[in-house]
Amino acid sequence: RDGKAEAAALLSWYDSHARVMPWRVGPAERAAGIRPDPYRVWLSEVMLQQTTVAAVRDYFRRFTGRWPDVGALAAAADAEVMAEWAGLGYYARARNLLKCARVVAGDLGGDFPDTPDGLRALPGIGPYTAAAIAAIAFDRPATVVDGNVERVVARLDRVEAPMPGSKPELARLAARLTPEARPGDFAQAMMDLGATICTPRNPACALCPLEGFCKARGAGVQGDLPRKSAK
Ligand code: ADE
Repeated sequence: RDGKAEAAALLSWYDSHARVMPWRVGPAERAAGIRPDPYRVWLSEVMLQQTTVAAVRDYFRRFTGRWPDVGALAAAADAEVMAEWAGLGYYARARNLLKCARVVAGDLGGDFPDTPDGLRALPGIGPYTAAAIAAIAFDRPATVVDGNVERVVARLDRVEAPMPGSKPELARLAARLTPEARPGDFAQAMMDLGATICTPRNPACALCPLEGFCKARGAGVQGDLPRKSAK
């Protein structure tokens, strides 16, 4: 099985059910050929590293209102950026954010690298964030694996092996599902599905676009997966 039918079902669900977020490009914009702005994708992904979507929204709006592109952020005074970051926590993220903006604006002519490897070379960008930016901003078929995605694939393929030992297997399964077209929408659809339908407890299977494909649902064990190793 190559995952094509699952990806297609998930993407058509995303077209009508995607959560609206200030850094996302909606279906109408996408139909008009509008692409996500790499600067906004990068900024949102760094903010979302250890912080919830609800907490990030207003910070994202203030940052992009004040510094609308990477050149503007690179030219900001450190203290101004740190003050605007106050409350988001993990202040090393803000320092790396500025370092990264200055590398991109200074050494890279204002353009973010468009591959996971190129992105990972920048301050504050690890494998997860690199994959997310490459997929969402540049349509690279990189697979984004977070806890939501692990839970969705553990259920879809009924992986009974416990976490965290099953992580490599879950990453492989997620990669096999990732489509060549619209990998960024696919990644965000997996996040939205995990956050709103395929939730840790009491998943709303009747609303799920993948219900018919889901092996855990077929066996009635969706609420037990993913299992966790006894400590
Ligand atoms: N968490 C991290 N990146 C995200 C995104 N692009 N959409 C929703 N949740 C996220």
